[in-house]
Amino acid sequence: MREPLPASILVVGAGGREHTLVRCLVASPGKPRVICAPGNAGIAAEVACFPVAADDILGLVALAQQEKIQFVVIGPEAPLALGLADLLIAAGIPVYGPTADGARLEASKVFTKQLLLKYHIPTAPAAVFNDREIIQAVLYLRSRMLPIVIKADGLAAGKGVVISRDLREAESIVRDMLYGTRFGDAGRKVLIEDWMYGEETSILVVVSGRDYIILPTSQDHKRIGDGDAGPNTGGMGTYSPAEVVTPEMLERIDREIVRPSVEAIAKEGMVFRGTLFIGVMLTDKGPSVIEYNTRFGDPETQVVLPRLETDLLKLLWAAATDHLREIELAVRPDHGLCVVIAARGYPDTYPKGDVITLPDSAALPAGTTIYHAGTTKNAAGEIVTNGGRVLGVTAFASTLRVAADRAYAACEQVQCASKYFRRDIGARQLKRIAP
Ligand code: AMP
Ligand code: GLY
Repeated sequence: MREPLPASILVVGAGGREHTLVRCLVASPGKPRVICAPGNAGIAAEVACFPVAADDILGLVALAQQEKIQFVVIGPEAPLALGLADLLIAAGIPVYGPTADGARLEASKVFTKQLLLKYHIPTAPAAVFNDREIIQAVLYLRSRMLPIVIKADGLAAGKGVVISRDLREAESIVRDMLYGTRFGDAGRKVLIEDWMYGEETSILVVVSGRDYIILPTSQDHKRIGDGDAGPNTGGMGTYSPAEVVTPEMLERIDREIVRPSVEAIAKEGMVFRGTLFIGVMLTDKGPSVIEYNTRFGDPETQVVLPRLETDLLKLLWAAATDHLREIELAVRPDHGLCVVIAARGYPDTYPKGDVITLPDSAALPAGTTIYHAGTTKNAAGEIVTNGGRVLGVTAFASTLRVAADRAYAACEQVQCASKYFRRDIGARQLKRIAP
C-alpha cells in the first residue's frame, strides 16, 4: 500500500451519499482533514464546505490545489462524465472515481448495452434508435411484448427510464424523447428494451483495473409510492444486506456478471478506479444487468458503507493507487435501513425553502443517523429544503425489523411542511422473514 494514507481529502457532491462518505472518512483512524464541495447543511455542520458546484470541474481542481488536498473522492456522476478525474490525475492528485471514458458506462446507456452484448454478459434484449429513426423505433416497439422499457441514452438523474404497458403511450414517449422535448439532448438517442420481471439488487463493486471487491448487497426502492407505485426516482429507501441475494446467488452474480464486467472494461482499454455499481435484476432465468453506474449509489451508500469494519479511506485509497489486492474486507453483521424523506411533489415539481426541524441526535432512537441530502441554510440560519430528496433517515440494528422500527420512529421526529416518505421500505424482506 502506498503509505502513509492521505491526510487531506476533498469529497465532491452534495447529497446523502456524500454526507455518508464524509462521516466514514472523518472516522478513519488517521484523523484526516476532510472538506467537501459544495456539501449541504448537514455536511457543513461537520466539515468545511466550499461553494464550488459539483460540475465546475476546473473550480474543483483549483480548490484541491489551494487546499493542498492529497486525495479526492468524487460522489456524483456529472463531474465524472465531465472528466474531473482526468483533470485531477493530470494535476498529480490521486482520485477515487473513474476517468471520463469509464464514466461513459453510466453516461451512455447505449455504450453500456453494446459492451454487455459484445461480452455476452446477461442483459435484456434491446435496440437503439436516433432522432432520424422515429419510424423504425415505432415499428420495433410494435414488434415487442408489453410492458416495454424506454430509456434516454444520456444522464437524466435516474428519471430517464419509462416503463410502459400501453403501445400508444410508448410511441408518444419515444417520439417525445427523440424530438428532444423530453430530457433534452439526453433523449435524442433511445434504447428500447424488453421488460424483465424480478427483484432488483444493487451490487456495489470497488474496482481498480482488473482487481475488485464486492461490497455488502443492498436493495433500493426506486418508485415514489408505496407498493412500488408511480414514477421512478433516484431512490426512496434502501436496506442492506439484501438477503434475496443468497451466498449462492452472489457467487453466480460474481461469476456471470461482476468478473466478466470488470474484464470487459479492462479489455476495452479503460483503467477503471472507482465504484462500478451494477443494477441487477434477479429473473427466473438468472441474474441480468439492468444498468451500470460508475459511482456509489444514493441511498445505497447510507446503508452499505457504515457496515464496513474496514477503514473506508484505506479501501478507497488502495483502489485509487492500485493496491486493492492488499485489502481484506471486513463487514459488520448488522442490518441497515434508510428511509428517504423527500419534498412532496418529487420527482416532478416540489417546493424549496421549507423549514426543517430535526430532533437532537441524543433524542434519536439508538443506532439511528440522519444524513442530509437536499438541505441548506436560509438567511435566518434555519435548515431548509433545497432539493427533491431531503434527508436519509438511517438505522442499524441486529435485525432488519428493529432497524426499520428505529428509522420510522426517527422519521416521525422530523418536522417539515412538505415531508413525504414511503412507509414500506424493506417490506419485501420483512415479509420473507416474518410469516
Ligand atoms: P436504470 O436507470 O437503467 O437503472 O433504470 C431505472 C429503473 O427502471 C431500474 O432500477 C428498474 O427498476 C427499471 N428498469 C430498467 N430497465 C428495466 C428492464 N429492462 N426491466 C424492468 N425494469 C427495468
Ligand atoms: N439509488 C440508485 C442510484 O444511486 O442510482
